[in-house]
Amino acid sequence: MFDTAFVLLVIAALLVVVGFCQPLAAYLKLPPPVLLGVVGVALGGFPAVLSQLGWSARSDPFADVFVELPVNSATFIYVFLPLLVFEAGIVTDVRRTLEDAAPILLLAIVATLITTAVIGLALWPLAGVSLAVCLLLGAVVATTDPAAVIAIFRDVGAPARLTRLVEGEALLNDAAAISLFAVLLAMIVSAREPDIGSGLSQFFLSFIGGGVLGLLAGRALLAVIPWVRDDRLAEATLTLALAYGVFIVAERLFHVSGVVAVLGSGLTISGLGRSRIAPYNWSFLTDLWDQIAFWARSLVFILASILVPRLLGDVGLRDLLLVGVLVAAAFAARILVLFVLVPPLEFFKLTQPISSAYKLAITWGGLRGALTLVLALAATENAALSPEVKRFVAVLATGLVLFTLFVNGTTLRLVIDLLGLVRLSPRNQVLRDQVLALSYAEVCDSVRDMARDHALAESAIAEVVKPYQAWIEAANARDADERLIERDRLAIALVALANQERVLVLETRADRIASAATVQVLLRNADALVEGARAEGRVGYRRAAEAALSFPIAFRLAYFLYRFFGIVRFLADRLADRVELLLVMRLLVDRLLGFNSRRLVPMFGERITELTGEIIARRREAAGDALDALRRQYPDYVAALEIRFLRQSALRQETERYQALFDEGLIPQELYDDLKRGVAGASATEQRPRFDIGLDTHRLIERLDILSGLDERQLGRVAMLLRPRFTVPNERIIRKGDRGDAVFFIASGAVEVALPAGPVRLGSGEFFGEMALLSGRPRQADVTALTYCRLLVLRKIDFERFMASNPEARATINRIAASRHSMNQDDLDRATEPASL
Ligand code: CMP
Repeated sequence: MFDTAFVLLVIAALLVVVGFCQPLAAYLKLPPPVLLGVVGVALGGFPAVLSQLGWSARSDPFADVFVELPVNSATFIYVFLPLLVFEAGIVTDVRRTLEDAAPILLLAIVATLITTAVIGLALWPLAGVSLAVCLLLGAVVATTDPAAVIAIFRDVGAPARLTRLVEGEALLNDAAAISLFAVLLAMIVSAREPDIGSGLSQFFLSFIGGGVLGLLAGRALLAVIPWVRDDRLAEATLTLALAYGVFIVAERLFHVSGVVAVLGSGLTISGLGRSRIAPYNWSFLTDLWDQIAFWARSLVFILASILVPRLLGDVGLRDLLLVGVLVAAAFAARILVLFVLVPPLEFFKLTQPISSAYKLAITWGGLRGALTLVLALAATENAALSPEVKRFVAVLATGLVLFTLFVNGTTLRLVIDLLGLVRLSPRNQVLRDQVLALSYAEVCDSVRDMARDHALAESAIAEVVKPYQAWIEAANARDADERLIERDRLAIALVALANQERVLVLETRADRIASAATVQVLLRNADALVEGARAEGRVGYRRAAEAALSFPIAFRLAYFLYRFFGIVRFLADRLADRVELLLVMRLLVDRLLGFNSRRLVPMFGERITELTGEIIARRREAAGDALDALRRQYPDYVAALEIRFLRQSALRQETERYQALFDEGLIPQELYDDLKRGVAGASATEQRPRFDIGLDTHRLIERLDILSGLDERQLGRVAMLLRPRFTVPNERIIRKGDRGDAVFFIASGAVEVALPAGPVRLGSGEFFGEMALLSGRPRQADVTALTYCRLLVLRKIDFERFMASNPEARATINRIAASRHSMNQDDLDRATEPASL
């Protein structure tokens, strides 16, 4: 055992090394892990060198630390793994990754299985150990570390979707490999024959179980996060607790994959947290995790590489041969996946086409990193494994890690150059030129202003401004011969608009004028707009904008529950959501118009921004129409939400005022805190009002003139027969040709009767559906709701009873039905009359 202080000192020393490796790696243009690997191996080899020099390593405590490393694999796994995996989850852009969920899941899981199988089968005839052990090794090395290749993809401007695919695949790939590793290890330890069926089912069970657990844990955390009231330190602390907690609960209590659980919770926080955690706190959170994961990754790497010399202590020629086979098998498996498994995905449009050059780059960039070393270490420390199995896994896994780091890692950039992937796409080139030209022009202006303010010499200005101007001129000349076609420019402008929309949505989150759920939907919409504009330009943008206004699945579900089970509550909540969504959406679109004229005009010119302006104006109109449709039926509710909306922004302004006063030192801390508490209290009590669809039969009856002649008792009887019904715009209430089963009275809203001679509009107080009941013939026409409507429905037998006992109403209804009938008949006659000259 070592003194704690001493171990800490060693860790501090390692952190110094890690810290300096970062800039050094950047300087040498190497992926940082490569450098860390070199340092680690060197440190690990240090005691051996010492003893070679005649010093006894045993007597030197510093060397001892490395000989008997005070960290075992349990430490690695329990301390570092949850951190690494949680961070990977939390930085993932879940919404975008979800769009490619199918190929990512398929690639990650199938690729892991294929890699494991290919490697296992390739080594089995040569290795002299059982197939299960060979497969175990396969699982150990099936995890790839995409950091290096992704960093380069970002540099060369690879399509964002491809980068996400690689990232997502690697993420799940790790989880899959670790679950598989656990299953295989259990199999070997219990000395069972590898049974593919039960192995696979265990694998999927632990994978899915872990995923579900992680999802629930993530949601639970998000549910309690409001309790800490935007305290970023507390929020970050809770996420740290979540990472460890869910890992251990999954492993120990539920016996499902802890890694998958951690990943699931990280992804949940990332996907839903952005709208629940204030933007500033969110960036603090991700920065913090970035730092934590960096420490974890670097320490794992350096500590594990320190073990490499020990693991490789007695490597023979045979081992080298096996490493060679392993390397070949590992790359063959990767090629198999990319060139055989991906094409069908491309064919079915489940992923965007990936060029062969990118596929080769991904193959070559399949570095094995910290995770492989951790898993190998876990195998070597498992007491139930025989020494030769341990040695086999340790030597080969380490061999592959070293190979990929030192051969692939150092040549990746070169390979990418050779594959011709370094150039920016023409679109991005022009865009970059434009952005730069614009910024440079602004820089020149402000330099001139400053020089004027401080009365600096003209020659100084000229000197500073010259290179910028030269650049702008060169870019203009370039731009002239490589003009992007109009369509592309419009697409780029629309992408910029959609990105701005995303920023605005996050601002509304900060302003607290929209609920978390609404922010979530708006973010999703903005993402869909970006993707739409990127893929299909204007058409894609418009389609996404239309989709944003359609009724979402949750609404349809709630409507279904209402129609078939009579449950009104969910529908009312969804309607309230819709009012809120439309209110905020209109506000956003308004702000976009400002952004369009302020920021896009200088960049894209009048012609393009006129088009984008029109597109936004159309969106504003559509959102306004949708809102007005609700306002007409529920004016009080919309007004109440508008008030709440304004009050929240007033509270926000109030907070800002206090903040400013405090920052300027005009009010003391205690007073500031007190004022802030007051605002927070007011803001928290401001609940969204409940939406009332207003389906009370008695209230609705009052709106029907036709029943105004009835006395109290008659009305009471009719009220028992009438059933309220709510409809949404464009809902078909009656289908032409159906058998008549009910009459509908319109208490509020409007419907349209689709007659051959043209549509007829019926409004509040009128009725329809009587003709089929009176004549016994099929329905004469389609009747569709134009607005949100509240109807009162009278079923056939009740209608007959009603007609029998209310002669006055009967006369009115008969009269109207007869006039409708004759009107339709006239139209029919006119249509069939021979045309007279
Ligand atoms: P029904 O035929 O049961 O179903 C379609 C309904 O449309 C019909 O009853 C009437 O209520 C309504 N309808 C048909 N023709 C007209 C018309 N000319 N003007 C207004 N309503 C009509």
